[in-house]
Amino acid sequence: MCGIVGAIAQREVSEILIEGLKKLEYRGYDSAGVAVVDSEGKLTRVRRLGKVKELADAVDEMHTMGGTGIAHTRWATHGEPSEANAHPHVSANISIVHNGIIENHEPLRALLQERGYIFNSQTDTEVIAHLVEWELRSSASLREAVQKTVLQLEGAYGMVALDSHDPSRLVVARSGSPLVIGHGIGENFLASDQLALLNVTRRFTYLEEGDVAEITRREVAIFDKTGNAIEREMVESNVEQDAGSKGKYRHFMQKEIFEQPSALISALEGRINDDSIVVESIGNGAKEILAKVQHVQIIACGTSYNSGMAARYWFESLAGVSCDVEIASEFRYRDFVVRPNSLLLTLSQSGETADTLAALRLAKEKGYMSAMSICNVSGSSLVRESDLAFMTRAGTEIGVASTKAFTTQLAAMLILVTAIGKEQGTIKPEKEAEIVKSLHSLPAQIEKALEFDKKIEALAADFADKHHTLFLGRGEYYPIAMEAALKVKEISYIHAEAYAAGELKHGPLALVDADMPVVVVAPNNDLLEKLKSNVEEVRARGGLLYVFADENSGFEPCDGMKIISLPHVDPIIAPIFHTVPMQLLSYHIALIKGTDVDQPRNLAKAVTVE
Ligand code: M6R
Repeated sequence: MCGIVGAIAQREVSEILIEGLKKLEYRGYDSAGVAVVDSEGKLTRVRRLGKVKELADAVDEMHTMGGTGIAHTRWATHGEPSEANAHPHVSANISIVHNGIIENHEPLRALLQERGYIFNSQTDTEVIAHLVEWELRSSASLREAVQKTVLQLEGAYGMVALDSHDPSRLVVARSGSPLVIGHGIGENFLASDQLALLNVTRRFTYLEEGDVAEITRREVAIFDKTGNAIEREMVESNVEQDAGSKGKYRHFMQKEIFEQPSALISALEGRINDDSIVVESIGNGAKEILAKVQHVQIIACGTSYNSGMAARYWFESLAGVSCDVEIASEFRYRDFVVRPNSLLLTLSQSGETADTLAALRLAKEKGYMSAMSICNVSGSSLVRESDLAFMTRAGTEIGVASTKAFTTQLAAMLILVTAIGKEQGTIKPEKEAEIVKSLHSLPAQIEKALEFDKKIEALAADFADKHHTLFLGRGEYYPIAMEAALKVKEISYIHAEAYAAGELKHGPLALVDADMPVVVVAPNNDLLEKLKSNVEEVRARGGLLYVFADENSGFEPCDGMKIISLPHVDPIIAPIFHTVPMQLLSYHIALIKGTDVDQPRNLAKAVTVE
């Protein structure tokens, strides 16, 4: 999704802007651009279709100079990916970069055309540039012009305005799309994600919805949606500086898969004692809420939705609390009934997913007892707007395909479920101790799953020339199969579907033939015999089976069936364990197919537009 970087300094800022854009590349984009102004007011704008590297080369060649600048990576929404549609967009002396979507851009475009403005792109953003230019004509300052402009915009924006006639300031505005200000010494910065600025500062202020800020080299003045000057908290970032580097790994996704043991160690730290859950670690006031909760409504998208689907089994079977899981983009547009004492639980790696955020905002008005988020990015909109935030602490996730965010979300939810059960007396101390013991063993068990990397790599070749695959699971392993199918789809572009194995005979069995590999997630649990019958249904129809089976499950390799025998792990954490071989499989298939593993086509890391 689009990324923004801005800087105002005494030094040259082009390199800071380009480096910042590089850090945002993981979010997905199709073009990039930069505009800098020197102290004489000379504006240089450079835009390129394709990678930031091409923009960087062009900026070098053109000796782009200036101490005030804005930069952008664009993920096309209105208008094809092209140089003309890339940001910054310019209207006379005004340059604009913008994330989000302006929904009323068509009437605004018509109005501006009547006023004589000529449009050079198909974007909604160019409307903002002309509007600011128009308003500046009758305003005392750029800030006033931006404030008048945003009142006319419907939709979402995180935007920055630069006036080449006055390079001593940048004006930013936020509504529905995140922006963070980075504080330097005698210089200041801004970005859509703090990661872009970690090379230049660790001190950040997050803008709130409706904020407009004026940034000079020495000062940051923030105004709320009513135009009143307001103080926002400055926070020190604890994100590691090398979070954006691959280290010894070939891809971020690979690095993040292998980071899971350490990510889980941080996710668990301080939250479990030797044999009990530290309920207080879930947040101030959590204890009282967890004691009362009768229903949990989970809202999420993509991988986060899949983790909610898996955790639903725990909420109901361990804590005895009913749980529904819904895709945010559906939930936000339907009339829903809020049950008494319901906890709204949003799940998100980024904390900026537009649909999840919108669902949270809507639900908060509808009388949920409390809104909690399980999230990986502290300071994100979701975290700031929820009553309670339980951080997954997975560390920065760069690969578009979410991996460690999923397994740490599951660990966090297992802690939450246990805390609810403990507070409500449905989980007795012996059961709590059993769950906690299992959680303690989780990082080491994930290490064991990672040892299957080479074996799984050898299997991947069987999938690379296929066009379709099926993933099967039962119970809480059905969502694990869903997550496996999502991974295969997004990074290897192979059509993959997940089915609850018992559902096969109700339709999908018709698809099974020797060209359709069928992957089975096969733990050793109460549903094993049922699952074996489903496997036989596939085998009898000539399907090619790949069974990732618990070593005690009794599956034997035979014609048409390969077995990947995995160590037995405690059933409580087994869904988390069985996820890892699936992640490795999707990664190796994508490697063979030669796709862009970390930035798969058409996708973005944080989906900040609807
Ligand atoms: O940041 P979020 O967890 O809210 O993101 C939700 C989805 O966009 C995300 O999980 C997406 O499905 C991933 N690319 C899946 O790997």
